[in-house]
Formats: sequence, structure tokens, C-alpha cells
Amino acid sequence: MKNIDSFTHVRGESLFVDDLILRQDALIGLCFDSPKAHGKIKSVDYSKAETLEGVVRIFTYKDILGENQIGGIIPDEPLWAENEVHFWGQPIAFIVAETEAIAKKAKALISIELEELPVITTAKEAKEKGSFINAPRSFELGDTTNAFLACDYVFEGETFSNGQEHLYLETQGCYAIPQENGTIKLISSTQGPTIVQKTAAKVLGIPMHKIEVDVIRLGGGFGGKEDQATPWAVMTAVAVQHLNRPVKYILNRHDDMRMTGKRHPYTSFYKIGLTKDLKIKAFEAEFLQNSGAAADLSPAIAERTLFHATNSYFIPNVSTTVFSCKTNLPPNTAFRGFGGPQGMFVIESAIADAADKIGLNKRHIQEANLLAENDEFSYGQIATQVEAEKTWFSAKEKFDLARLEQEATAFNKENKRHKKGISLMPVTFGISFTNTQMNHARALIHIYQDGSVGVSTGAVEMGQSVNTKMLQVAQSVLGISPAKIKLETTNTTRVANTSPSAASSTADLNGKAVEMACNSLLERLIKVAAKTLSVEEKTISFQEDFVFVDGEKSSLAWEDVINQAMIHRVALSENAHYATPKIHFDKTKEKGHPFAYHVYGTAITAVTVDCLRGTYEIDAVKIVHDFGKSMNLGIDLGQVEGALAQGIGWMTMEEIAYGEDGRLLSNALSTYKVPDIFSAPKTVETIPLETEGNDMAIQKSKAVGEPPLMYGIGAYFAIQQAVKAFNPNYKLKFHSPFTPEKVLMGLYEPLS
Ligand code: MTE
Ligand code: HPA
Ligand code: MOS
Repeated sequence: MKNIDSFTHVRGESLFVDDLILRQDALIGLCFDSPKAHGKIKSVDYSKAETLEGVVRIFTYKDILGENQIGGIIPDEPLWAENEVHFWGQPIAFIVAETEAIAKKAKALISIELEELPVITTAKEAKEKGSFINAPRSFELGDTTNAFLACDYVFEGETFSNGQEHLYLETQGCYAIPQENGTIKLISSTQGPTIVQKTAAKVLGIPMHKIEVDVIRLGGGFGGKEDQATPWAVMTAVAVQHLNRPVKYILNRHDDMRMTGKRHPYTSFYKIGLTKDLKIKAFEAEFLQNSGAAADLSPAIAERTLFHATNSYFIPNVSTTVFSCKTNLPPNTAFRGFGGPQGMFVIESAIADAADKIGLNKRHIQEANLLAENDEFSYGQIATQVEAEKTWFSAKEKFDLARLEQEATAFNKENKRHKKGISLMPVTFGISFTNTQMNHARALIHIYQDGSVGVSTGAVEMGQSVNTKMLQVAQSVLGISPAKIKLETTNTTRVANTSPSAASSTADLNGKAVEMACNSLLERLIKVAAKTLSVEEKTISFQEDFVFVDGEKSSLAWEDVINQAMIHRVALSENAHYATPKIHFDKTKEKGHPFAYHVYGTAITAVTVDCLRGTYEIDAVKIVHDFGKSMNLGIDLGQVEGALAQGIGWMTMEEIAYGEDGRLLSNALSTYKVPDIFSAPKTVETIPLETEGNDMAIQKSKAVGEPPLMYGIGAYFAIQQAVKAFNPNYKLKFHSPFTPEKVLMGLYEPLS
């Protein structure tokens, strides 16, 4: 089945927040934000702006009737700065005016006096100065100290991976509309409707039932709207509370890039120990996460870095620690992979380093250490239904790695100016929110009396096609055609207390709830049908919009059964709650079983480097991916390709740059390069792993949103291979992105 939004998307008819027709009395909001990265606010002069014609009001923290606090995990972030600013772009005030042009003019009329304070932009500096978000976390398995003593090889090194701009097509924004009796409706572009509702209620000082959050769909979120869609929604809500008029605020691209957090840059240190047979016996890593100026989701992201620090490998002795380092950057946040990619880059770097120094291809070490059934992760979970080796070896075989490597070797012999490189990248990614209590969802299903069905869940559609999957679940359980089913907007008054749509778990959690609700409805309808047809209940099934008796189509149509149900006063609505069974995690011991299951896969990446220019092309990425039993292969392949492109972008070209003063330099699409069609791999081939699937996944179809991003890490190491092929003196560096500039330097080092 195609994505159910594809028709309106292609015709430009799909609605996003900025497409909504505003009420006649609606106003436009705009943030006034900090022009420096760190300082004490001496004074702000709003007088000129306030008297500008068309300016309705300028809000500051003084107008907050509840708490000036939007921090989720840790309450360390004000909605509007009070006496100090901690990052360039931090919101200080909110201008509400008749038009956007007036609001912009007013913004230019505000003057601020700051006493500047020292600025920290790197995690390393923050660590040296003892500037942290919270206490560090450590995962331990075995005894690394003793294990290193028994190793034949021990290598140590440092890595850096840069941040990443989400660049969702639709920028952040919200349209807030006053309702009756102090109730406010927020039409928000958020992955977390309940987070917005809860935070707005807290800041406004009103109960949650006075805030209704509605999400139509997002033009992409990628984690950037898990927590960071909240401030703009809350600002518009504060304005509505005071003005009793609708207020809309949509960030322009430049402001969105400047003011919002990104993927966390990480500086990391590793120590890896191997025996002669290439078994990794010990691994230590210290991760310095550049968290930015407030916690946001950093502690949870830091935790996931530890969960994925050994990627697809079994290592019996592990000691990893992560520090969330407080700097003067916008608070960094969730981004597809959620700290996992940063962790995996480090172990892959350590393996590449070891291979280079021992003098063999990295893949030999990778292959010797792949995770097997019943291996223990450093966090205590025992790996089951492991597909690491299976995806690895089928990738090698199905894509004929031996031939690819021979061709590359031959090519490199013949060509002076161009060199090819090949890498393998296995991925193992845990599915579930690492915070066990977040793993639940609900669905509310109405069957209307004409037989049409409305499905509401807590899932937010952001392009990942979760609505299509929800429709497929309802349709398959009820045995009716897709046209009978409509997916409703995500709304806090219909489905409450939702977890954000994140952690690749949205389809699993909400899909299981849809399945449960539909099964309850089905049970009732089977009774109605059996009675109507005077047959036994166990003979009844629903298929193809009809009742089937003992597998034979009857004359009783779906609509007839619904009609009978109405006559017999049978409830045609159902609400179901799903909470992932079996998972648990004890943070005091850092042990448990946090993931419902893992997703596995292996990518082979082949690149060609132009050794005169330092530019490169990705020739091919060939993947064997564990979809389980995919319920929609078209959609799932799309997720693999999209995530791969994002991963390659992060590893090769997307270069976030801040000045020493904490100002974002890569603040527009002219200075921040994202992959386009010209930089996309020339071929992407994905073969689904043959497997039975996993019962913990919705209809055995495994979560797919984030895991394939990490295949992109393969591009870094393939380029590295090619550089080394040209310049045997090249000293491996683990500093991503591997931009053409860095490639060029590497090709000709050491420069005398
Ligand atoms: N795909 C599209 N098109 N747009 C998105 O914003 N977000 C990704 C991934 N795929 C995203 C996407 C992220 S970060 C996550 S966690 C998952 O989708 C969330 O959706 P799921 O849980 O339904 O997989
Ligand atoms: N993944 C994504 N988002 C999250 C998580 C997670 O594990 N925990 C909290 N938010
Ligand atoms: Mo995805 S980073 O969990 O929104």
C-alpha cells in the first residue's frame, strides 16, 4: 500500500500548520533572542518597539503566570531568559503584532545591554572547566583493567563527530487559538503533543485539560521536534492567554537554524585491546557530549550512546562513561539515532585504528567479533534472535564482496588519480525508549453507523508513514478495505498522555494498541454476525468487507453487521492501551533488559575519491537489512534510503560551525551543505533479510526509522580506505565529517 498521504502531498494539498486559514483576528508572533552566547542582561529597552503601530504586545518572563520553565528531564531551561543568557539565539521576549513585517520591524527596534561572560563552545573545554549538565553515567561489563593485560594489541585514540542540522522541510511553528473559558487550542508541529500540552499548562499555570494540542502532520521531525517544538507553542499560548486572540508563530529557516539545537557533537577517547586471533577482549571509551546550554534530552541521548557503544560486536570487557558537557550553544537534542550513531562511530574508529596498525583490513576484526546468540550486552541484556552474522555474511555473499574488492584493487592499480575504497558497516540498534516508563500508547477507534472507521492514536505522522501502517493494522484486523478507514489528526483530547513519536517505536506501540482495540471490536461484531446468521461464533470471520462463515463468503456485508450492532445497541467505539511487556532497566545498577528487540543489518559501501580534487562519489551502498516481516516494504525501503542519505550527510559533508564567540556560522543553506541528488550514492540496493520477524514488533514488522542511518558511517571508512590507497603515509584520523577539504589534506600529508 502506498503512503496514504502521497496523493495530497504530490498535489500540494496536504495541510501543515502554516497552511491553515487564520481567524480574522489572528496575530503574528516573533522571538527577540540573545545576540550573544553568554552574558548578564543589564537592560532591555522595548519602548520603541512597543509604540510601533501594529505591535500589540511584547511578552517577557514577567508575563508568565505559571512557571518560567520548559525543561523536560531537568528543569534548567526558562521559556524566556530572565537575568542571564546562555546561548546565542536564546529567546528573551516575544513580539506579537498585526503582521510579520511589523513584528520584524519591532524586533530591530529593541535594544539590549549585556555584560558578556566567557563562552564555552566545545565539550572538551566544558569538561576541563567542570561544566556539566548532570553526573556522568557508566556501563561496565567484565574487568577491562585485567583484560587489557592479557591483550596482544592495545590501541588508544581520540575521535570527533560533529553535530547535524535537522533541516526538516517544514520549520518549527504553532498556531494557537483561544476557545471558551480559558481553554487554548494549539495546532503544533510537534512529535510530542503531550509534552507541548504539559509544558504549556505548567508555564500558563492552568490545568492540562485547558490545553488541547492538535497535530495534523509534520513536514519532517527527525527528532528535532521531540522536545524543541515546545517553546514556540508555549509562547503562542502565553500570548493567547493574555490577549484572547489567535497567535501564529512560524520560524523562518534562518531563525530555525540559529535558535534550535542539533545532533550532539561528541569528542571521545577509546582504548581497544585485542588478542592475536583478532578477538576484541576489552574496550574502554569516554564520551564527551556537547550538550549545549540546557539539558533538553541530552541525558537520555547520552545513555543511548552507552547502549550502542559496542555496536554489533560482543566484547566481554567493557567500560564506558559519558559526560553531558554544558556549553554555550543552543541545547542539542534528539536526532535520528539518538546518540547511538555517535557511539558507533567511536567503536568503528577504534577497530579501523587497530586494523591499520596491525596491518589488515578492518573487516577482519569486525567479522571476528560479531554478536552471536546469547551474548551479553554491557547493559546486561542477553542478545536473542540475533541476526548480526546473518546480515553480515549474506551481504558479503549476495553482493559478491570478493569481486567488489578485486575490482577495487585492480582499479587502484591502474588509476593514479582516482582511488576506490570499500567498507562494511554492521548495525545493531535497540528498539524501545530507553526510559522504560515511556513505552506505552493508546488507540481510540470509532466505527460510525455507516461502517466507516475513524482511527485516533498518539502517533504523529512526520513522513515516516506511521498513519499508513496504522491503517493497515486496522484494515487487516477488521477485514475491511482501506477506503473505509480514516486516520484522524493526533489530538490530546482524543488520545491522552502520549509518549512522543520517537525511538523508532511509534508504529510498534501505537500499532499494538490499534490491534488490541480492533480485536475488541471484532469480538463484539462476531457475536452480532453469528446471531444475525444463526451460526456459531467460532465459524465467523471478517474478510473483504463481508462476513465469512467457515471460510465461505456470506451475504452479510460489513455495513449490515454495523447496522445490526446499532440496532442491538452494541458499542462501536473502543479504546486500548498497550505497554511493552518484558522490558526493564535498573539505573542504580545500569543493568536490565531495556529493549523489546534489536534491529540488525550490514551495509557495504564503495566510494571513488578524486585524488587531485579531494572530492568523492559514493558508487554504491549495498545493504542487507532485518525488517522482520515487513508490513510495507515500499515504505520501509524508503526509510532505509532516507536514513542512509542522512547518515552519509552527517559523516561526509554536513559541517556545523560555531565561532569562538558561540555564533552559528553555518546558519544558512549557502554555508551548510546537505546531501542532494548529486551527492546521493549512485546505487542503493537493499535486500531484506529472510527471517521470521519478531512478535514484539507490530505484525512482526520491525521498527525501521532510525537504524539505517548508521549505515552512513560506512561512507567515512570507505573514503578513508581510498585515501590510504593513494597515500600510504596517511595517518588515520577520526574526525567527521570527512569533507573534501579534509580528504585533500589527507591525500597529501605530511605536507612539508
Ligand atoms: N522519516 C521521515 N520521512 N520524516 C521524519 O521526520 N523521523 C525519523 C524516522 N523517519 C522521520 C523519519 C525518526 S528520528 C524517528 S525516531 C522515526 O522516524 C519516528 O517514527 P517511527 O517511530 O514511526 O519510526
Ligand atoms: N529514543 C528517542 N527519544 C527518546 C528516547 C529514546 O530512547 N528516550 C526519550 N526520548
Ligand atoms: Mo527520533 S531521534 O527518536 O525522533
